[in-house]
Amino acid sequence: MTKNVWLAGIPLAIGVGYVAAAFAQAKPEVLVKQRQAAMTLQGKYFGPLAGMAQGKAPYNKDTVVRNAEFLGALSKMPWDGFAESTKDEKSVKTAALPAIWKDTDKFKQAQQHFEEEASKLAQVSKNGDEAAVKAQIGATGKACGGCHQDFREKQQ
Ligand code: HEC
Repeated sequence: MTKNVWLAGIPLAIGVGYVAAAFAQAKPEVLVKQRQAAMTLQGKYFGPLAGMAQGKAPYNKDTVVRNAEFLGALSKMPWDGFAESTKDEKSVKTAALPAIWKDTDKFKQAQQHFEEEASKLAQVSKNGDEAAVKAQIGATGKACGGCHQDFREKQQ
């Protein structure tokens, strides 16, 4: 009994630590790095799917299902990193354009559109035929590109 009470206290103590960290305001440069990390992972898991859709790599359903599921979660992660506090952050390199904080509605719409396409991809990858999956990979890629077009500095 006593032992159980002790064990129950451990996760609680750990949990409280995390809550405290969550309430402390994240530093702008940390937010920038985190949003870039989420984007990098999106690239990691979306890249192979784009290759398959373009016929550059053989179609592999298991990879598509797994990567699409990861992407479904990742597609929700970068956005709180574009906090107002990061607008004038100069200590880290960023490709985020000022339009993000000027045209906030449009930026939000681009996020929502992308999240919808990514979540549709996760669905279709499980049940759809290869052609339908490839079409949805294309639609998802367009959502990435559309937002980059308006809100990310052109890459050299
Ligand atoms: C709603 C807008 C939006 C969508 C959708 C979006 N991105 Fe981005 N992405 C950005 C912005 C803005 C940056 C620049 C972030 C920065 O440098 O602070 C970025 C940066 C990146 C980077 C560079 C990360 C780094 O380390 O600098 C990669 C890679 C990337 N995106 C991949 C993707 C992929 C792949 C998708 C779709 C699966 C996607 N993005 C969808 C807005 C978006």
